[in-house]
Amino acid sequence: RTPHGALLLLFILACLRGAYSGGGRSRFTSIISFGDSYADTGNLVMWADPVLPGLPLKNLPYGETFFGHPTGRATDGRLVLDFIAEALGLPSVPPYLAKGSNFSAGVNFAVVGAPALNLTYLQGLNLTVNPPINSSLHDQLAWFQKLKPSLCKGRYLQKGK
Ligand SMILES: *[C@@H]1O[C@H](CO)[C@@H](O)[C@H](O)[C@H]1NC(C)=O
Ligand SMILES: *[C@@H]1O[C@H](CO)[C@@H](O)[C@H](O)[C@H]1NC(C)=O
Ligand SMILES: *[C@@H]1O[C@H](CO)[C@@H](O)[C@H](O)[C@H]1NC(C)=O
Ligand SMILES: *[C@@H]1O[C@H](CO)[C@@H](O)[C@H](O)[C@H]1NC(C)=O
Repeated sequence: RTPHGALLLLFILACLRGAYSGGGRSRFTSIISFGDSYADTGNLVMWADPVLPGLPLKNLPYGETFFGHPTGRATDGRLVLDFIAEALGLPSVPPYLAKGSNFSAGVNFAVVGAPALNLTYLQGLNLTVNPPINSSLHDQLAWFQKLKPSLCKGRYLQKGK
């Protein structure tokens, strides 16, 4: 099973702050994304450099038809996630590994090629994981837990804990 081919998961959680304030404003103030190449907006490339040199994602034609340059997305244009963000009036969801980013309107934990189960487990079954990095959903949820106190000022996410 190749993790590259598999649509892992794309969750969109909305922080409901100001959710029902009318006036045609978006009900959503934030997107939190998990997944693989269907949703990664740059994590693999930031992670991989310089660990995995020569990633095709770093070169054209990736990014060619919309951004005009490679962005780390596994496409020449935009991802479904980009269209969702646009439709909700939110900025493009910044990759978690883009240190110093403003995550107040969303954060993206997705990594190209990420499997659902962790690397240690899959390698124990002699399955090849490519790229061989700790980027599984398990790992992405751990990143989320780490960042959670600073998201939505901690209020809404703690409720459902
Ligand atoms: C982060 O972005 C939000 C809007 O999305 C803005 O209100 C806030 O001032 C920004 N924070 C910083 C530190 O730039
Ligand atoms: C990896 O996943 C397995 C199976 O779910 C789990 O038992 C193990 O604790 C996980 N290891 C790490 C390092 O997360
Ligand atoms: C994985 O491969 C090693 C070395 O060939 C073998 O000893 C081991 O039994 C294999 N593990 C599984 C779960 O197939
Ligand atoms: C992945 O995580 C496990 C458990 O923390 C660690 O032992 C292993 O070295 C990591 N592998 C890579 C490639 O980072």
